[in-house]
Amino acid sequence: MNPILSALPTTVFEVMSQLARETGAVNLGQGFPDDPGPLDVRQKAAEAVVDGWNQYPPMMGLAELREAAAKHYKHWQGLDLDPNSEIMVTSGATEAIAGALMALITPGDEVVLFEPMYDAYLPLVRRAGGIPKFVTLTPPHFGLTEEALAKAFSPKTRVVLFNNPLNPTATIFGKADLDLLADFCIRHDAIVVCDEVWEHVVFDGHRHASVLGRPDMRERTVKISSAGKIFSLTGWKVGLVMAAPAIMRVLAKAHQFITFTTPPNLQAAVAYGLGKDDGYFEGMRADFQRSRDRFAAGLRDLGFTVLPSAGTYFVNVDIAPLGESDDVDFCRRLVTENGVAAIPVSAFYAEGAVRNVVRFCFAKRDATLDAALERLAARRPR
Ligand SMILES: Cc1ncc(COP(=O)(O)O)c(C=O)c1O
Repeated sequence: MNPILSALPTTVFEVMSQLARETGAVNLGQGFPDDPGPLDVRQKAAEAVVDGWNQYPPMMGLAELREAAAKHYKHWQGLDLDPNSEIMVTSGATEAIAGALMALITPGDEVVLFEPMYDAYLPLVRRAGGIPKFVTLTPPHFGLTEEALAKAFSPKTRVVLFNNPLNPTATIFGKADLDLLADFCIRHDAIVVCDEVWEHVVFDGHRHASVLGRPDMRERTVKISSAGKIFSLTGWKVGLVMAAPAIMRVLAKAHQFITFTTPPNLQAAVAYGLGKDDGYFEGMRADFQRSRDRFAAGLRDLGFTVLPSAGTYFVNVDIAPLGESDDVDFCRRLVTENGVAAIPVSAFYAEGAVRNVVRFCFAKRDATLDAALERLAARRPR
Protein backbone atom coordinates (compact mmCIF):
# COMPACT_ATOMS: atom_id res chain seq x y z
CA MET A 1 0.00 0.00 0.00
CA ASN A 2 1.11 3.52 -0.58
CA PRO A 3 2.80 4.75 2.62
CA ILE A 4 1.82 8.41 2.11
CA LEU A 5 -1.86 7.49 2.28
CA SER A 6 -1.70 4.52 4.65
CA ALA A 7 0.15 6.62 7.26
CA LEU A 8 -2.52 9.34 7.28
CA PRO A 9 -4.58 9.50 10.48
CA THR A 10 -8.38 9.99 10.48
CA THR A 11 -8.88 13.71 9.93
CA VAL A 12 -9.73 15.89 12.89
CA PHE A 13 -12.89 16.94 11.01
CA GLU A 14 -14.17 13.37 11.14
CA VAL A 15 -13.02 12.92 14.76
CA MET A 16 -14.89 16.06 15.88
CA SER A 17 -18.00 15.29 13.79
CA GLN A 18 -18.10 11.77 15.22
CA LEU A 19 -17.81 13.13 18.78
CA ALA A 20 -20.53 15.68 17.95
CA ARG A 21 -22.84 12.90 16.73
CA GLU A 22 -22.15 10.73 19.78
CA THR A 23 -22.70 13.55 22.27
CA GLY A 24 -25.48 15.44 20.46
CA ALA A 25 -23.26 18.53 20.36
CA VAL A 26 -23.93 21.64 18.28
CA ASN A 27 -21.61 21.05 15.34
CA LEU A 28 -19.74 24.20 14.35
CA GLY A 29 -16.82 22.09 13.16
CA GLN A 30 -17.44 21.14 9.55
CA GLY A 31 -17.91 24.03 7.12
CA PHE A 32 -21.30 23.78 5.53
CA PRO A 33 -24.34 26.04 5.75
CA ASP A 34 -27.66 25.06 7.36
CA ASP A 35 -29.52 26.83 4.58
CA PRO A 36 -30.62 24.51 1.74
CA GLY A 37 -29.24 26.88 -0.94
CA PRO A 38 -30.97 28.87 -3.70
CA LEU A 39 -34.24 27.18 -4.74
CA ASP A 40 -34.11 28.26 -8.39
CA VAL A 41 -30.64 26.76 -8.84
CA ARG A 42 -31.77 23.50 -7.23
CA GLN A 43 -34.88 23.48 -9.40
CA LYS A 44 -32.73 23.88 -12.52
CA ALA A 45 -30.75 20.83 -11.44
CA ALA A 46 -33.96 18.85 -10.88
CA GLU A 47 -35.30 19.85 -14.30
CA ALA A 48 -32.01 18.87 -15.90
CA VAL A 49 -32.17 15.44 -14.24
CA VAL A 50 -35.73 14.82 -15.45
CA ASP A 51 -35.74 16.48 -18.86
CA GLY A 52 -32.09 17.03 -19.69
CA TRP A 53 -29.07 15.15 -20.89
CA ASN A 54 -27.87 12.49 -18.44
CA GLN A 55 -25.18 10.78 -20.49
CA TYR A 56 -21.50 11.70 -20.59
CA PRO A 57 -21.08 15.42 -21.15
CA PRO A 58 -18.00 16.81 -22.97
CA MET A 59 -14.74 16.21 -21.14
CA MET A 60 -14.03 19.95 -20.73
CA GLY A 61 -17.55 20.58 -19.39
CA LEU A 62 -20.83 21.76 -20.92
CA ALA A 63 -20.27 24.62 -23.37
CA GLU A 64 -23.08 26.56 -21.68
CA LEU A 65 -21.28 26.35 -18.32
CA ARG A 66 -17.91 27.38 -19.75
CA GLU A 67 -19.55 30.33 -21.50
CA ALA A 68 -21.45 31.28 -18.34
CA ALA A 69 -18.20 31.10 -16.34
CA ALA A 70 -16.39 33.37 -18.84
CA LYS A 71 -19.17 35.98 -18.54
CA HIS A 72 -19.36 35.61 -14.76
CA TYR A 73 -15.64 36.17 -14.21
CA LYS A 74 -15.53 39.05 -16.70
CA HIS A 75 -18.30 40.72 -14.72
CA TRP A 76 -17.05 39.98 -11.20
CA GLN A 77 -13.27 39.89 -11.53
CA GLY A 78 -12.54 41.59 -14.88
CA LEU A 79 -11.01 38.39 -16.32
CA ASP A 80 -10.86 37.80 -20.08
CA LEU A 81 -11.21 34.04 -20.49
CA ASP A 82 -11.73 32.02 -23.66
CA PRO A 83 -14.44 29.46 -22.79
CA ASN A 84 -13.04 27.01 -25.35
CA SER A 85 -9.40 26.92 -24.37
CA GLU A 86 -9.11 28.42 -20.87
CA ILE A 87 -11.96 26.95 -18.77
CA MET A 88 -12.57 23.38 -17.65
CA VAL A 89 -15.22 21.86 -15.38
CA THR A 90 -14.15 19.35 -12.70
CA SER A 91 -15.84 17.34 -9.96
CA GLY A 92 -15.31 19.90 -7.25
CA ALA A 93 -12.33 22.09 -6.47
CA THR A 94 -10.75 19.04 -4.87
CA GLU A 95 -10.49 17.24 -8.21
CA ALA A 96 -9.17 20.43 -9.77
CA ILE A 97 -6.44 20.70 -7.12
CA ALA A 98 -5.50 17.00 -7.39
CA GLY A 99 -5.42 17.21 -11.19
CA ALA A 100 -3.37 20.42 -11.21
CA LEU A 101 -0.79 18.93 -8.84
CA MET A 102 -0.57 15.73 -10.90
CA ALA A 103 -0.23 17.75 -14.08
CA LEU A 104 2.30 20.33 -12.89
CA ILE A 105 4.58 18.47 -10.48
CA THR A 106 7.42 16.26 -11.68
CA PRO A 107 8.74 14.08 -8.81
CA GLY A 108 11.47 15.98 -6.97
CA ASP A 109 10.04 19.43 -7.71
CA GLU A 110 9.69 21.74 -4.74
CA VAL A 111 6.19 22.99 -4.01
CA VAL A 112 5.59 26.03 -1.82
CA LEU A 113 2.66 25.68 0.59
CA PHE A 114 1.27 28.19 3.05
CA GLU A 115 0.30 26.80 6.42
CA PRO A 116 -2.33 26.72 7.87
CA MET A 117 -3.57 24.93 4.75
CA TYR A 118 -6.58 22.97 3.56
CA ASP A 119 -6.12 19.36 4.65
CA ALA A 120 -6.06 17.83 1.15
CA TYR A 121 -3.04 19.83 -0.04
CA LEU A 122 -0.13 18.10 1.62
CA PRO A 123 -1.00 14.44 0.88
CA LEU A 124 -1.79 15.37 -2.73
CA VAL A 125 1.51 17.23 -3.16
CA ARG A 126 3.44 14.32 -1.65
CA ARG A 127 1.53 11.73 -3.72
CA ALA A 128 2.47 13.68 -6.85
CA GLY A 129 6.13 13.44 -5.81
CA GLY A 130 6.45 17.09 -4.77
CA ILE A 131 8.78 18.18 -1.97
CA PRO A 132 6.77 20.53 0.27
CA LYS A 133 8.35 23.80 1.43
CA PHE A 134 6.28 25.70 3.96
CA VAL A 135 5.60 29.34 4.57
CA THR A 136 4.23 29.45 8.11
CA LEU A 137 1.59 32.11 8.72
CA THR A 138 0.84 33.18 12.27
CA PRO A 139 -2.03 34.92 14.08
CA PRO A 140 -3.53 37.40 14.35
CA HIS A 141 -2.89 38.61 10.75
CA PHE A 142 -1.51 35.52 9.02
CA GLY A 143 0.29 37.84 6.55
CA LEU A 144 3.09 37.10 4.06
CA THR A 145 6.59 38.36 4.62
CA GLU A 146 9.45 38.60 2.15
CA GLU A 147 11.70 36.81 4.60
CA ALA A 148 9.38 33.79 4.91
CA LEU A 149 8.94 33.55 1.14
CA ALA A 150 12.68 33.81 0.58
CA LYS A 151 13.20 30.83 2.90
CA ALA A 152 10.61 28.67 1.12
CA PHE A 153 11.44 29.43 -2.53
CA SER A 154 14.52 27.95 -4.20
CA PRO A 155 15.77 27.27 -7.74
CA LYS A 156 13.87 23.94 -7.49
CA THR A 157 10.49 25.60 -6.84
CA ARG A 158 8.12 24.71 -9.68
CA VAL A 159 4.67 25.02 -8.15
CA VAL A 160 3.07 27.22 -5.49
CA LEU A 161 -0.29 26.33 -3.95
CA PHE A 162 -2.02 29.43 -2.65
CA ASN A 163 -5.45 29.74 -1.03
CA ASN A 164 -7.14 33.16 -1.01
CA PRO A 165 -9.40 33.89 0.88
CA LEU A 166 -7.73 31.52 3.29
CA ASN A 167 -9.52 28.70 5.09
CA PRO A 168 -9.18 28.32 8.13
CA THR A 169 -7.99 31.81 9.04
CA ALA A 170 -10.79 33.76 7.27
CA THR A 171 -8.20 36.23 6.02
CA ILE A 172 -7.89 37.84 2.61
CA PHE A 173 -4.49 38.52 1.06
CA GLY A 174 -4.37 42.08 -0.23
CA LYS A 175 -2.53 43.69 -3.12
CA ALA A 176 0.80 44.00 -1.30
CA ASP A 177 0.75 40.25 -0.51
CA LEU A 178 -0.14 39.37 -4.11
CA ASP A 179 2.61 41.69 -5.44
CA LEU A 180 5.14 39.93 -3.24
CA LEU A 181 3.93 36.47 -4.25
CA ALA A 182 3.90 37.38 -7.96
CA ASP A 183 7.42 38.71 -7.70
CA PHE A 184 8.68 35.42 -6.20
CA CYS A 185 6.79 33.27 -8.72
CA ILE A 186 8.17 35.24 -11.67
CA ARG A 187 11.73 35.26 -10.34
CA HIS A 188 11.61 31.48 -9.77
CA ASP A 189 9.65 30.69 -12.93
CA ALA A 190 7.00 28.92 -10.84
CA ILE A 191 3.33 28.27 -11.60
CA VAL A 192 0.86 29.27 -8.90
CA VAL A 193 -2.25 27.16 -8.32
CA CYS A 194 -4.74 29.55 -6.73
CA ASP A 195 -7.49 27.94 -4.72
CA GLU A 196 -10.08 30.72 -4.82
CA VAL A 197 -13.11 28.70 -3.74
CA TRP A 198 -14.08 31.38 -1.19
CA GLU A 199 -13.94 34.23 -3.75
CA HIS A 200 -17.64 35.11 -3.35
CA VAL A 201 -17.90 34.62 0.40
CA VAL A 202 -16.24 37.92 1.34
CA PHE A 203 -17.54 40.57 3.69
CA ASP A 204 -17.53 44.28 4.49
CA GLY A 205 -17.76 45.33 0.83
CA HIS A 206 -14.63 43.45 -0.22
CA ARG A 207 -14.29 42.46 -3.90
CA HIS A 208 -12.10 39.42 -4.68
CA ALA A 209 -9.06 40.05 -6.90
CA SER A 210 -7.84 36.92 -8.70
CA VAL A 211 -4.12 36.37 -9.26
CA LEU A 212 -5.12 35.33 -12.80
CA GLY A 213 -6.22 38.93 -13.41
CA ARG A 214 -2.65 40.20 -13.11
CA PRO A 215 -1.09 40.56 -16.58
CA ASP A 216 2.33 39.51 -15.19
CA MET A 217 0.81 36.26 -13.86
CA ARG A 218 -1.62 35.44 -16.68
CA GLU A 219 0.59 32.70 -18.18
CA ARG A 220 1.63 31.14 -14.87
CA THR A 221 -1.60 30.94 -12.85
CA VAL A 222 -4.21 28.23 -12.42
CA LYS A 223 -7.40 29.59 -10.88
CA ILE A 224 -9.71 27.14 -9.12
CA SER A 225 -13.32 27.86 -8.11
CA SER A 226 -16.12 25.81 -6.56
CA ALA A 227 -19.85 26.04 -7.28
CA GLY A 228 -20.33 24.40 -3.88
CA LYS A 229 -19.06 27.56 -2.21
CA ILE A 230 -20.49 30.04 -4.74
CA PHE A 231 -24.04 28.73 -4.21
CA SER A 232 -23.78 27.40 -0.63
CA LEU A 233 -24.34 23.87 -1.99
CA THR A 234 -21.22 22.20 -0.66
CA GLY A 235 -22.26 18.69 -1.67
CA TRP A 236 -22.50 19.54 -5.34
CA LYS A 237 -18.83 19.12 -6.16
CA VAL A 238 -18.72 21.13 -9.35
CA GLY A 239 -15.38 22.88 -9.77
CA LEU A 240 -14.06 25.30 -12.36
CA VAL A 241 -10.45 25.53 -13.47
CA MET A 242 -9.11 28.47 -15.44
CA ALA A 243 -5.65 28.85 -16.99
CA ALA A 244 -3.88 29.96 -20.15
CA PRO A 245 -4.16 27.39 -23.00
CA ALA A 246 -0.62 26.00 -22.69
CA ILE A 247 -1.24 25.05 -19.04
CA MET A 248 -4.86 24.03 -19.63
CA ARG A 249 -3.85 21.44 -22.22
CA VAL A 250 -1.90 19.56 -19.54
CA LEU A 251 -4.54 20.04 -16.82
CA ALA A 252 -7.09 18.52 -19.21
CA LYS A 253 -4.94 15.40 -19.58
CA ALA A 254 -5.07 14.83 -15.81
CA HIS A 255 -8.84 15.46 -15.63
CA GLN A 256 -9.35 13.08 -18.56
CA PHE A 257 -8.15 10.14 -16.46
CA ILE A 258 -9.33 11.15 -12.99
CA THR A 259 -13.07 11.69 -13.48
CA PHE A 260 -13.25 12.58 -17.21
CA THR A 261 -16.56 14.41 -16.64
CA THR A 262 -18.85 15.91 -14.02
CA PRO A 263 -22.64 15.30 -13.76
CA PRO A 264 -24.22 17.28 -16.63
CA ASN A 265 -27.41 18.16 -14.75
CA LEU A 266 -25.47 19.92 -11.99
CA GLN A 267 -23.37 21.66 -14.63
CA ALA A 268 -26.55 22.99 -16.28
CA ALA A 269 -27.78 24.34 -12.94
CA VAL A 270 -24.42 25.98 -12.18
CA ALA A 271 -24.44 27.60 -15.65
CA TYR A 272 -27.82 29.09 -14.81
CA GLY A 273 -26.68 30.16 -11.34
CA LEU A 274 -23.53 31.96 -12.51
CA GLY A 275 -25.78 34.26 -14.54
CA LYS A 276 -27.84 35.31 -11.54
CA ASP A 277 -27.96 39.04 -10.93
CA ASP A 278 -25.69 40.90 -8.53
CA GLY A 279 -28.48 40.99 -5.94
CA TYR A 280 -28.23 37.26 -5.35
CA PHE A 281 -24.49 37.34 -4.64
CA GLU A 282 -24.73 40.47 -2.53
CA GLY A 283 -27.67 38.99 -0.58
CA MET A 284 -25.77 35.76 0.04
CA ARG A 285 -22.78 37.70 1.38
CA ALA A 286 -25.01 39.93 3.51
CA ASP A 287 -26.70 36.86 5.06
CA PHE A 288 -23.39 35.23 5.98
CA GLN A 289 -22.02 38.55 7.22
CA ARG A 290 -25.05 38.91 9.49
CA SER A 291 -24.42 35.44 10.92
CA ARG A 292 -20.74 36.24 11.38
CA ASP A 293 -21.62 39.45 13.21
CA ARG A 294 -24.19 37.73 15.43
CA PHE A 295 -21.83 34.93 16.43
CA ALA A 296 -18.69 37.09 16.79
CA ALA A 297 -20.59 39.65 18.90
CA GLY A 298 -21.92 36.82 21.08
CA LEU A 299 -18.41 35.48 21.58
CA ARG A 300 -17.04 38.92 22.40
CA ASP A 301 -19.85 39.54 24.88
CA LEU A 302 -18.81 36.34 26.64
CA GLY A 303 -15.25 37.71 26.84
CA PHE A 304 -13.61 35.56 24.14
CA THR A 305 -10.81 36.98 21.96
CA VAL A 306 -12.20 36.83 18.42
CA LEU A 307 -9.85 37.12 15.44
CA PRO A 308 -10.97 39.13 12.38
CA SER A 309 -13.04 37.21 9.81
CA ALA A 310 -12.99 38.87 6.37
CA GLY A 311 -14.52 35.96 4.43
CA THR A 312 -15.33 32.19 4.39
CA TYR A 313 -17.84 30.54 6.80
CA PHE A 314 -15.41 30.73 9.72
CA VAL A 315 -14.49 32.80 12.73
CA ASN A 316 -11.49 31.99 14.92
CA VAL A 317 -10.97 32.40 18.63
CA ASP A 318 -7.64 32.84 20.38
CA ILE A 319 -7.72 30.50 23.37
CA ALA A 320 -4.41 31.67 24.90
CA PRO A 321 -6.20 34.28 27.06
CA LEU A 322 -8.22 31.38 28.53
CA GLY A 323 -4.98 29.89 29.79
CA GLU A 324 -5.25 27.13 27.15
CA SER A 325 -2.16 26.01 25.23
CA ASP A 326 -3.43 22.90 23.40
CA ASP A 327 -6.21 23.53 20.88
CA VAL A 328 -6.82 19.80 20.21
CA ASP A 329 -7.33 19.07 23.89
CA PHE A 330 -9.49 22.20 24.24
CA CYS A 331 -11.73 21.12 21.32
CA ARG A 332 -12.10 17.61 22.74
CA ARG A 333 -13.21 19.01 26.08
CA LEU A 334 -15.45 21.56 24.38
CA VAL A 335 -17.36 18.89 22.50
CA THR A 336 -17.55 16.26 25.26
CA GLU A 337 -18.05 18.54 28.28
CA ASN A 338 -19.83 21.56 26.79
CA GLY A 339 -21.55 20.18 23.68
CA VAL A 340 -20.00 22.38 20.98
CA ALA A 341 -17.84 20.98 18.19
CA ALA A 342 -15.11 23.22 16.74
CA ILE A 343 -11.87 22.58 14.84
CA PRO A 344 -8.36 23.04 16.30
CA VAL A 345 -6.41 25.16 13.80
CA SER A 346 -3.17 23.26 14.54
CA ALA A 347 -4.70 20.51 12.34
CA PHE A 348 -4.03 22.78 9.34
CA TYR A 349 -0.31 23.05 10.09
CA ALA A 350 2.39 20.58 9.10
CA GLU A 351 5.43 22.17 10.74
CA GLY A 352 4.95 25.37 12.70
CA ALA A 353 1.80 24.39 14.56
CA VAL A 354 0.01 27.31 16.13
CA ARG A 355 -1.78 25.76 19.10
CA ASN A 356 -3.91 28.57 20.42
CA VAL A 357 -6.54 29.09 17.72
CA VAL A 358 -9.90 27.34 17.35
CA ARG A 359 -12.17 27.59 14.28
CA PHE A 360 -15.97 27.85 14.43
CA CYS A 361 -18.33 27.68 11.44
CA PHE A 362 -20.96 30.43 11.72
CA ALA A 363 -22.91 29.53 8.55
CA LYS A 364 -25.76 28.25 10.68
CA ARG A 365 -29.29 29.27 11.70
CA ASP A 366 -29.56 31.91 14.47
CA ALA A 367 -31.02 29.34 16.85
CA THR A 368 -28.01 27.03 16.30
CA LEU A 369 -25.53 29.87 16.88
CA ASP A 370 -27.41 31.02 19.97
CA ALA A 371 -27.48 27.47 21.37
CA ALA A 372 -23.71 27.23 20.83
CA LEU A 373 -23.13 30.58 22.55
CA GLU A 374 -25.21 29.49 25.52
CA ARG A 375 -23.03 26.39 25.90
CA LEU A 376 -19.82 28.33 25.32
CA ALA A 377 -20.66 30.54 28.28
CA ALA A 378 -19.32 27.73 30.49
CA ARG A 379 -15.84 28.34 29.00
CA ARG A 380 -15.88 32.12 29.20
CA PRO A 381 -12.75 33.72 30.69
CA ARG A 382 -13.15 34.26 34.42
C1 LIG B 1 -9.73 26.00 0.66
C2 LIG B 1 -10.64 24.96 0.11
N1 LIG B 1 -10.32 24.35 -1.04
C3 LIG B 1 -11.10 23.39 -1.58
C4 LIG B 1 -12.28 23.00 -0.96
C5 LIG B 1 -13.11 21.90 -1.56
O1 LIG B 1 -13.97 22.36 -2.55
P1 LIG B 1 -14.95 21.32 -3.28
O2 LIG B 1 -15.99 20.92 -2.30
O3 LIG B 1 -15.49 22.09 -4.45
O4 LIG B 1 -14.13 20.16 -3.70
C6 LIG B 1 -12.65 23.62 0.25
C7 LIG B 1 -13.86 23.19 0.97
O5 LIG B 1 -14.07 23.54 2.12
C8 LIG B 1 -11.80 24.62 0.79
O6 LIG B 1 -12.11 25.25 1.94
